[in-house]
Amino acid sequence: MKNILITGGAGFIGSHVVRLLVNKYPGSTIVNLDNLTYAGNLLNLTDIENRPNYRFVKNDLVDDEGVFALFKEFSFDTVIHLAAESHVDRSIANPMDFVHSNVLGTVNLLNAAKFTWKDNYEGKRFYHISTDEVYGSLGDKGLFTETTPYDPRSPYSASKASSDHFVRAWYHTYKLPVVLSNCSNNYGPNQFPEKLLPLFINNILHKKPLPVYGKGENVRDWLFVKDHAEAIDLIVGKGRIGETYNIGGHNEWKNIDLIRLLCNIMDKKLGRTPGTSAELITYVKDRAGHDLRYAIDAGKVQRELGWKPSVTFEEGLEITVDWYLTNDQWLQQVTSGDYMQYYRKQYEER
Ligand code: NAD
Ligand code: TYD
Repeated sequence: MKNILITGGAGFIGSHVVRLLVNKYPGSTIVNLDNLTYAGNLLNLTDIENRPNYRFVKNDLVDDEGVFALFKEFSFDTVIHLAAESHVDRSIANPMDFVHSNVLGTVNLLNAAKFTWKDNYEGKRFYHISTDEVYGSLGDKGLFTETTPYDPRSPYSASKASSDHFVRAWYHTYKLPVVLSNCSNNYGPNQFPEKLLPLFINNILHKKPLPVYGKGENVRDWLFVKDHAEAIDLIVGKGRIGETYNIGGHNEWKNIDLIRLLCNIMDKKLGRTPGTSAELITYVKDRAGHDLRYAIDAGKVQRELGWKPSVTFEEGLEITVDWYLTNDQWLQQVTSGDYMQYYRKQYEER
């Protein structure tokens, strides 16, 4: 029986973590703190929103009074911190939003935990979720391990690296019982259609151009979101205090190869002539500072905690495409209003 605070639970990965924990731990209280930015959506959680062990609280991580009061009200013993601004392109356009939520928000949360727990750390745990992007960009060879030096190169990864450093500083300085993980690119249901896969699925559906940055030669290591959620559940329970775990799919794809695979799947699913979707591929100006390659060595979490991905990429992609095709109302809802403004600025004025 735990009192668990999950931040960012209305977002993509957070909603899968909330669902997993609400279903798996009926005796625990799970509080979801999220200020519902453009990326946060309560529609992601309608199936569990009335469960007796679940509460949603709308607030900004940076609101110190609000966050301190929440810790007092619920006596949290466990924090799973996912809330963040998460999209690289937005960080290039508006870096201060990333400093606000990712850096100040994390420090405020650390302070609230330290203040509330008052050096009594028995049974307490502060779990910070981070990204492989803090390690920078790989060449053709090699993998990121937990000891790879930090080398963030986008405002997003710099803000996440900064938050990771603050979490470790609270461990070393105040002995706060922290654990961290750094994960590769996630894909799956409920991802906001600004990230590669849901954006391209949505564009193929509407026969809109598929904007490939540069030559499409950048490489990402893709992991199905539910496998990430399972890893988070394992690490929060069994990860060693003060340690970091890298999580990844051992599943590297060059963007253009992944996009061609997606086009083939979409043609089949939509009953279109083979090759129809690939005709939408349009090479556009590269992202500024575009990291060439990310790839994770997930050996530590596998050896220590027995975690490995449960679905193959083929299975995961199929589930993902089917989800977006079945949940066209979700797509419609999140792509109205503000989304169109973002889209025009990001792509049509490119
Ligand atoms: P997301 O953008 O889909 O969701 C983020 C959530 O955080 C949203 O619900 C948003 O409303 C909330 N949020 C943002 N700022 C907030 C604030 N100031 N106060 C309260 N709530 C706030 O992000 P995601 O893709 O689900 O990523 C979740 C976490 O996992 C992030 O920390 C991200 O850095 C990390 N991560 C993501 C990936 C990926 O591929 N998506 C990979 C590795 C790590
Ligand atoms: P993204 O989903 O934004 O994740 P990240 O930048 O955090 O890895 O992008 C994945 C890859 O796809 C990245 O190399 C950038 C590329 N990309 C495009 O080519 N076109 C797009 O419109 C987007 C959003 C991404």
